[in-house]
Amino acid sequence: MSGLNSDQNRAPIYDMARRYVEENTVRFHMPGHKGRLYGDDAADLAQDMWQMDITELPDTDDLHMPQGAIMEAQRLMAEAYGADRSFLMVNGSTGGIYAMMLAACKPGDSIVVARNCHKSVINGLILAGLNPIYIWPPMLQDWHITGQIRPEQVGEALEQHPEAVAVLITSPDYYGLCADVAGIAGVCHQRGVPLLVDEAHGAHFAFHESLPPSAGHCGADIWVNSMHKTLPALTQTAVLHVRSRMVDTDRVMAGLQMAQTTSPSYILMASMDMARRYMANEGRGDLGNLLGYIADLSQWLCGMGGVRMMDESIKGRSGVTFKDPTRLCLDISGLGIGGVAAEELLRVEGVQAEMADLYNVVFITTVMDNAKDFAVLKEALIRLAASGRNAKEVYHPPVMTLPHPVQTLSPRQAALGAAERVPLEDAAGRIAAQPIGLYPPGIPAVCPGEFIDRDTIEVLLEASARVGRVFNMGEDKMVAVVREKAYE
Ligand SMILES: Cc1ncc(COP(=O)(O)O)c(C=O)c1O
Repeated sequence: MSGLNSDQNRAPIYDMARRYVEENTVRFHMPGHKGRLYGDDAADLAQDMWQMDITELPDTDDLHMPQGAIMEAQRLMAEAYGADRSFLMVNGSTGGIYAMMLAACKPGDSIVVARNCHKSVINGLILAGLNPIYIWPPMLQDWHITGQIRPEQVGEALEQHPEAVAVLITSPDYYGLCADVAGIAGVCHQRGVPLLVDEAHGAHFAFHESLPPSAGHCGADIWVNSMHKTLPALTQTAVLHVRSRMVDTDRVMAGLQMAQTTSPSYILMASMDMARRYMANEGRGDLGNLLGYIADLSQWLCGMGGVRMMDESIKGRSGVTFKDPTRLCLDISGLGIGGVAAEELLRVEGVQAEMADLYNVVFITTVMDNAKDFAVLKEALIRLAASGRNAKEVYHPPVMTLPHPVQTLSPRQAALGAAERVPLEDAAGRIAAQPIGLYPPGIPAVCPGEFIDRDTIEVLLEASARVGRVFNMGEDKMVAVVREKAYE
């Protein structure tokens, strides 16, 4: 058989990953360990990975019914994060978001959802069969991005929808912007509903007092952290925390079982355990060093001109209450260059941004980034500025504002019912069957069950022409819509 098809000698994913190792040029990109081993135990895990890839045996415990090492690791995790209970997860924050929605709500319930959410929240609505009451964060016009949900908005939504059983917000967002989580928790608790927080990007907050307060510290009932994004842990690792009298932990555990494999990787679980130990012991010092590099970069950029770094001065505007200083958001449009083009140019210089929008490039920095990385970033920015200044035209991108589409069917009805694909151009007046939006940051412009209107089509077509990455829209510009008459 193998002789018949010589292509079977290839292992394309392995080959591609091998190339990354050999070229070894990527800096700043996720995962948070940045491909670096931070101590003897990380080196051991890497070396003995094949042998440590064990499974549920009488003495190795069971993630879904922990009584031994996993239970102890979860206890230590809860202690580090100030939670009553913490649950290790191997399916990223995505699985945790599903689990918290399944735990806090029953099919057919209504939930207030901040619309600056990741697509996993929309998928959670579909899986759990919930009716969303969306609230939209105000725009931060001068950065061309959304700010954060305000407590008053949550209060109004709960006033108008007393049937809502929970509130779900995303804080921080991809740009490191945090909401007034304590204020929002207060509003929720006054009305007797739990606050669920997607804190995927804030796993490091608990380890340094100069970082924004963690969702748990602010009174969230359930919150999830992607460990792999901002801590030295392997991809897919995440934790769900509970501290609440309103949440039934048995339901959380049942939700986690539904959202996750029955064969969780012990390598992933060990990497979370190790990252927690590392951060609890060394994290504060290392984060202090990182904040020093960032302060130095910020000062250096003032002298360079043309690049604006988002900083603490954004606090207090458009619902933003804290800004994660480790998330570098650089508006490079002053160089006469767009964010997406800048991302490509920086990559050639060995610096990989995590995300670019039309105006900004965003970098995830962690305790694994060092002085050399920041020196390389400065060099790359100098070269970027040189290429920008040579540009014939100064780049003046218009502000892109997302419309607020009207919900007509529940996300579940729309996403799991009969659908067909049509060109986006012809989709006006149809109901979306899948979330469609920009990736990154993965925020949907239109959600399943919502009417697709002309404004939304214009924004998505423009985004696809300029940014090129619109999720759930193929190269052929086709999107999934509910089949007409399917729900009459
Ligand atoms: C805000 C937000 N929430 C949740 C997720 C999903 O996290 P994970 O990749 O750990 O499943 C992401 C991923 O990018 C995200 O940006």
